[in-house]
Amino acid sequence: MKTRILFVCLGNICRSPAAEGILRAMAARRGLSERVEIDSAGTYGGHAGDRPDGRMRRAAALRGYDLAHRARQIREEDFERFDRIVVMDDMNYEAVHRLAPSRELACKIHRFTEFCRRHAECTHVPDPYYEGREGFERVLDLLEDGCEGILEFTMLNS
Ligand code: 4NP
Repeated sequence: MKTRILFVCLGNICRSPAAEGILRAMAARRGLSERVEIDSAGTYGGHAGDRPDGRMRRAAALRGYDLAHRARQIREEDFERFDRIVVMDDMNYEAVHRLAPSRELACKIHRFTEFCRRHAECTHVPDPYYEGREGFERVLDLLEDGCEGILEFTMLNS
């Protein structure tokens, strides 16, 4: 069975497309590409059609991740299509909740940091947009940690 995972942040040009690229690469390395479908979206649609932010693409490329996504806004149909909707921070968690068509479908919404193990103290993945290089590295550290957790959780529960 295939598990469908949607990552969500604000603009869909930094955090969520990076999570998408990282999880896709991790799944491929373990021969699990056929078991997961991965996508990402933003709660804000102003960057729709854009490639991921150049700073994030460069930082991710140095760790071996190719971010090929084009930004899009989350839509109601995503709640039917995906099994898990994994959100980066509280503001976007609230926004995704407001969009959920029903309480049952809202149960698919998770915070990304629920899956982190090496950063168990973290409650959100901080927005790096107005940060320097360190902000992007910090985000990638968190995303690699949580994506490992998501992959293991997904393999155990599907
Ligand atoms: P993201 O980062 O939510 O991780 O994609 C941001 C991208 C764009 C903006 C804010 C955060 N913005 O204000 O346009």
